[in-house]
Amino acid sequence: MQHVLITGGAGFIGSHLTKELCSKGYSVRILDNLSPQIHGDSAQIPEWVDDLSVEFHRGCITNRADVKNALEDIDIVIHLAAETGTGQSMYEIQKYNDVNSQGTAVLLDIIANKETKSVKRILLASSRSVYGEGAYTCSNCADKTRQCPDSRTAQVLAEEKWDPLCSICGSSLTPLPTKETDSIKPASIYAATKFAQEHLISVFCESQGIGFGILRLQNVYGEGQSLNNPYTGILSIFSTRIRRDLNLPIFEDGNETRDFIHVSDVANSFLAAITTHNSPNCIVNVGTGQLTTVKEVATKLTTAFGKTPNITVTGEYRIGDIRHNRADITLLKDKLNYTPKVDLEKGLKSFVDWVQSQDLPEDLLDKANNELKAKNLMG
Ligand SMILES: NC(=O)c1ccc[n+]([C@@H]2O[C@H](COP(=O)([O-])OP(=O)(O)OC[C@H]3O[C@@H](n4cnc5c(N)ncnc54)[C@H](O)[C@@H]3O)[C@@H](O)[C@H]2O)c1
Repeated sequence: MQHVLITGGAGFIGSHLTKELCSKGYSVRILDNLSPQIHGDSAQIPEWVDDLSVEFHRGCITNRADVKNALEDIDIVIHLAAETGTGQSMYEIQKYNDVNSQGTAVLLDIIANKETKSVKRILLASSRSVYGEGAYTCSNCADKTRQCPDSRTAQVLAEEKWDPLCSICGSSLTPLPTKETDSIKPASIYAATKFAQEHLISVFCESQGIGFGILRLQNVYGEGQSLNNPYTGILSIFSTRIRRDLNLPIFEDGNETRDFIHVSDVANSFLAAITTHNSPNCIVNVGTGQLTTVKEVATKLTTAFGKTPNITVTGEYRIGDIRHNRADITLLKDKLNYTPKVDLEKGLKSFVDWVQSQDLPEDLLDKANNELKAKNLMG
């Protein structure tokens, strides 16, 4: 039996992945500090941990003793523990760097210096945010060159010029599926720390002959996403407002797009990255390849609650947000032999069914936005 350590295994993706791996006969150990921002102030070890005979280590990814204990006799590490709020990362820089970059360094340092070399494969949950805007083309120019524009500046956003422009003719660009080989242009501190994690892991694993896989996840949604965290997870944030009959404020002109992937497809992509005989040893996008506007997803979500959409397009914006991004999933299909299975309607229905079984949380969106405004990170 293979022993898997999932850091951050009590979180949204980690809990789905743990259940999936246990059902396939893996022995799973979790290292998670049950961060109050995600799990609430009086967080307890989840009940499913006992039900699944999972070994739970309550500890921090930056604490050497916690990480050392958690790594004992582990064959495969899936590294999910992280701070995940894009906006929050822009003013809590030290915390994001400590947990995401330094936490990864601690993990690798201990693996490098262990007497018994048990770890054979390390997988990382990275993020599509490392691309920044990702790939576009210009439908106006005769030469349809692939372009990866820079992130939009505060001035451009203040002028409501939402769409990235062609570097040749100045027209609005059309988004393309972004490939793993496209330019990396992190637009947030969060994205910069995810990119640091990628480098640390790929350089370390290549030098040590350890297999690795870096999965760049698009926007993950689904059952179990924290309903307490106002800093990330647009559908969770909106679900609380819909249940409270509050309007859904949408940034920019509402036509910004994301590639929404259901959490079960993400868990199955990690499973595929474990079970491939040869370690992937590369970066793989994990998304559906489909673009959905934020306005559209807000409408579909409200409808799934059986309510009438109450949407306000605010024209506000956050520094560090991208306009469009969707994954080219050729490598997911070819390297991991996986194709996402859950379409948005079906995924939203399961999500809404789950949300309705949960306590109604406080709506903290205004609090989170006011923090950004106070730091001049939102206009
Ligand atoms: N959810 C998404 O849309 C998305 C998209 C791209 C990438 N990712 C990445 O996937 C991973 C998991 O994300 P998630 O959505 O499940 O987030 P989550 O916040 O639900 O889970 C993260 C888990 O890590 C734990 N954690 C936080 N700080 C820790 C620390 N210092 N020590 C130990 N544990 C700690 C938290 O308690 C939580 O249980 C993250 O690395 C994130 O960057 C997520």
